[in-house]
Amino acid sequence: VLMLTAAGCGGAKTQDASAYTPEKPLIIKFSHVTTADSPKGKAATRFAELMAEKTGGKVKVEVYPSSQLYGDKDEMEALQAGNVHIIAPSATKLVGFNPAFQIVDMPFLFKNHDSVIKFWDGELGKKLLGSLESKNMLGLAMWENGFKVFTANKPLAKPEDFKGLKFRTQAGKVLEAQFKALGSGAATIPFGETYTALQQGTVDGQENTWNNIDTQKYVEVQKHLLVSNHGRLDYIVLTNKKWYSELPEEFRKAFDESMAEATKYERELAVQLDKESENNLRNSGMTVVELSESEREAFVKLMEPVYSEFAETVGKEIIDGARKL
Ligand code: LMR
Repeated sequence: VLMLTAAGCGGAKTQDASAYTPEKPLIIKFSHVTTADSPKGKAATRFAELMAEKTGGKVKVEVYPSSQLYGDKDEMEALQAGNVHIIAPSATKLVGFNPAFQIVDMPFLFKNHDSVIKFWDGELGKKLLGSLESKNMLGLAMWENGFKVFTANKPLAKPEDFKGLKFRTQAGKVLEAQFKALGSGAATIPFGETYTALQQGTVDGQENTWNNIDTQKYVEVQKHLLVSNHGRLDYIVLTNKKWYSELPEEFRKAFDESMAEATKYERELAVQLDKESENNLRNSGMTVVELSESEREAFVKLMEPVYSEFAETVGKEIIDGARKL
């Protein structure tokens, strides 16, 4: 009865920061699926360092990389349940909460890196981040990774090469439709299981950023890479809304400041590591194929049906807004 009354008042029961010491710190768990040396991994570590500094060690952020704690299938539920406090899934993986997050998957939509940043930092991006609050998830920031390219264990250069191949996708119907337009099959496979799926031939190929292909060592199981830059991989950093609202005020302030600094760091690092990984892969023995302007146009045309099919689901306003940037 007492709890019902408290809930009824609508007031969050803010905790007291003085309850915590460097010996008995407040533990914040940050779980993610990429390696510790990916931009997301490094920025999560930076966030942890900043939080320790700003709270004099009274808050300890534990970072769990590489799907150690939770993977694609369960990290969102774990966040909503409060078993983990921060996750940073790719926008695509939020499709079950709001299909408009598939904006990142609309083929050849964003002109360049600048348009991507403008989108997420502008009104449309903020609206998307805010759309998760009714699900007890607070969108904190966009952390980027980069543009995606295709890889396979068979040569990839022209649209015909995609026919009959099967590709791993992260989630959602847009990516499925993209591969269908290319005459390929698609299978949703968690990130943590993708290397094995490629190795065992469950799928022939996949699409990802230079950095994920590099840090996941797909070069060991994929021979061919097509530089298509057809879609985006951007992360939405999320926290549990109720948990966050109950943080002691001084910790919440440190949290917000650390997140802002880690975000700036992550975005700069992502651009730098994207280039480094591209360089690594170009020197890796993989066959790397470029698209001429007319070859690129052929892919754009072939994928056009994705727009008519998903204009409504993803939202015309948001698609047009992104295209204009
Ligand atoms: C993927 O599943 O390919 C990516 O979303 C993984 C990641 O977090 O970069």
